[in-house]
Amino acid sequence: MPYRCRECGYRSPKWLGRCPRCGGWDSFEEVREGEEGGGWIGARPQALPQVKKPPLERVSTGIREVDRLLGGGLIPGSVILFGGEPGIGKSTLLLQLAAALAGSGRKVLYVSGEEAPAQVKLRAERLGIQTPELYLLSEQHLLRIVKAIEELSPQVLVVDSLQTVVARPEGGDIGGVAQVREAAAQLARLAKGLEMTCFLVSHITKGGEFAGPKTVEHLVDVAVYLEGTREGDLRILRSVKNRFGSTNEVAVFQMGEEGLIEVPDPATFFVPRDRPARPGAAVVPVLEGTRPLLVEIQALVAPSMGYGPPQRRMAGLDFNRVSVLLAVIEKRLGAHIGATDVYLAVAGGLEVREPAVDLGVCAAVLSSLRDRVIPPDTVVFGEVGLAGDVRPVRKGPERLREVDKLGFRRAIVPPGPLPKGLSLEVERVASVVEAAEALGVG
Ligand code: TYD
Ligand code: MG
Repeated sequence: MPYRCRECGYRSPKWLGRCPRCGGWDSFEEVREGEEGGGWIGARPQALPQVKKPPLERVSTGIREVDRLLGGGLIPGSVILFGGEPGIGKSTLLLQLAAALAGSGRKVLYVSGEEAPAQVKLRAERLGIQTPELYLLSEQHLLRIVKAIEELSPQVLVVDSLQTVVARPEGGDIGGVAQVREAAAQLARLAKGLEMTCFLVSHITKGGEFAGPKTVEHLVDVAVYLEGTREGDLRILRSVKNRFGSTNEVAVFQMGEEGLIEVPDPATFFVPRDRPARPGAAVVPVLEGTRPLLVEIQALVAPSMGYGPPQRRMAGLDFNRVSVLLAVIEKRLGAHIGATDVYLAVAGGLEVREPAVDLGVCAAVLSSLRDRVIPPDTVVFGEVGLAGDVRPVRKGPERLREVDKLGFRRAIVPPGPLPKGLSLEVERVASVVEAAEALGVG
């Protein structure tokens, strides 16, 4: 970057009379080769009261759920890592984001090291994107990417993906730790200097050959991961790091013909209001980030057909955890499931890893075993211990408030404080035996 503001360290490819960041006049000086440090904060030490606050005005991405996830929009100059498994939809979502930002008048440069511009254009056409301010570049060499940035001066940069960037020709394998780190560090520095928002895509790979997103998380302001199953159409964007907002938030999307469509009201998305009452189903309010989502746990307990050990299959639940729960049910409720097949699933393809789902799993299994329906207006949650005890889970009151708001009539929950003003009936149970009785599946 050849010019830098003496006052605040702002960088620009061109000499400027007035600094756009600190407003200083005639403050730009040329940066000579070799003088380049990591000094985007400032060229010299500044006393704390003199340090200018970064501009915290946020820019909407055009996709509401992404704005919410980021804490209210993009901070100009921030670096956002976008991780996810290959094929999950990163390029799709980023192209949609790039188009939305370009559509609101920002100049966006989308650099792909994996696809030719024509391929990206094909995808853009499928997504119905036509925005003149969106520029495509197929390039892997960082030097040439930087050159393009200097020529175009985009406000938003997308690099898809970090693993294809060659930061230093002598810097080791493409996609290796050294290359990926160097590329991320240089792009992050550039983004700060130019106040250019920068999205860096990174594939999560199973093998150890490539450097995954974890190797650069420390270099970025925000790290989000796109999750889901390739078979299902559900995608969850989760933030794990955010220098400008809270983490552990999620945004829910559905992959369709026209790309990723946001699910604005995910709470009830997985549990339709008019779902039929049937044995083997239990509704649980689980937490994704700080958001309560309703999920339906479905169980099928059936006589074992074959020889050998009975079947134990589950989707979206932890196998070992469920095995323990089945043993607890067997022992504490005298339910004979040791020799029967048990199939369990979280409807809708969500992965549920939190202990609050324990009681829901027990309820669904018992409901199927006894062939008795749990009323569809009833929810259940709680962690189950080895002794069959039911224990409190985090944010119990929030879960209750949410299901109350959604119109559920009854909740079977662990002991603990209750929020005021609920209109649903809450029954606190201390054991799976009590829970089974309360649900009529004992
Ligand atoms: P992609 O964004 O290329 O994934 P990534 O960049 O994370 O590797 O998307 C991969 C899949 O998404 C691909 O199999 C096709 C599918 N897809 C849709 O279902 N709908 C769409 O509108 C688009 C563009 C892709
Ligand atoms: Mg891709």
